[in-house]
Amino acid sequence: MKHIAIITGASSGMGREFALTATQHGSYDEIWVIARNENNLEQLRPQIDVPIRVFPLDLSKDESFKIIAGRLREEEVNVSLLINASGYGIFDSFESTKMSDAEGMIDLNCKALVKMTKTALPYMHAGSHMIQIASMAALQPVPYVNVYAATKAFVLSFSRALNSELESRYIHCMAVCPYWTKTRFFDRAVNADKDPVVKKYIVMYKPEQIVKKAWKDMARDKDVSIYGIVANGQAALCKLLPHGAVMKIWKKQQKLM
Ligand SMILES: NC(=O)c1ccc[n+]([C@@H]2O[C@H](COP(=O)([O-])OP(=O)(O)OC[C@H]3O[C@@H](n4cnc5c(N)ncnc54)[C@H](OP(=O)(O)O)[C@@H]3O)[C@@H](O)[C@H]2O)c1
Repeated sequence: MKHIAIITGASSGMGREFALTATQHGSYDEIWVIARNENNLEQLRPQIDVPIRVFPLDLSKDESFKIIAGRLREEEVNVSLLINASGYGIFDSFESTKMSDAEGMIDLNCKALVKMTKTALPYMHAGSHMIQIASMAALQPVPYVNVYAATKAFVLSFSRALNSELESRYIHCMAVCPYWTKTRFFDRAVNADKDPVVKKYIVMYKPEQIVKKAWKDMARDKDVSIYGIVANGQAALCKLLPHGAVMKIWKKQQKLM
């Protein structure tokens, strides 16, 4: 039986970094990579030392999951690793955010992540791992990054509860909560024609740093992975302070009040 890893969002950013480093942290016969940009996925092929299977799919569409479910059914595989890294955000007031974007974030960040997890889980066994990419935005409500932050709160809650449910099957599920990380994420999140919502990025991490810590935390069966002093400091503050105070600090810091 083949042991495979499935990685969504592998065409760019953190998903790509997970794909490039996966075989250093586990043994896989194949890596299945999923995203819309086929060229970017194909570019991974010569850089990964096991065969990769490219699925150029839009995960906001239901038929994409039928394709993955069909391939899983046809081939006898054991999904040893699932990483859900596809996602996007929009930085804007809720009033100015287009309905299509509000729905799009919910569809991709929440619905697609749940559907991919549901699709892969029957093929997972004791010792399998799941990594769900949430965000530091999951730890607090974030005015002007409102819907995005709410989708990531969903991911964090879903992931932690699932880890607890799957404990008896020895399947591990971990949420990764990256702080600002330098990827193409900002090309879509920031509207260049408007006054930016986020004016101050206290620190900008590299995808390599987030992913390296995630692999380490996965090996330790942690349920949440947070990289960096600034990020861990903020996580502690979010636990200590009321959310009202945390939102005020955010708005002051970004000159939104
Ligand atoms: N960068 C940050 O500061 C930051 C912080 C916290 C959390 N995150 C989260 O980290 C995850 C990875 O983002 P990133 O920072 O690495 O950004 P990124 O470079 O923009 O990567 C996003 C990935 O999602 C894929 N994707 C987007 N729409 C899709 C769709 N409809 N169907 C399938 N795949 C789709 C993209 O591929 P295609 O365009 O080829 O489809 C790309 O591979 C996301 O969930 C993001 O919310 C990012």
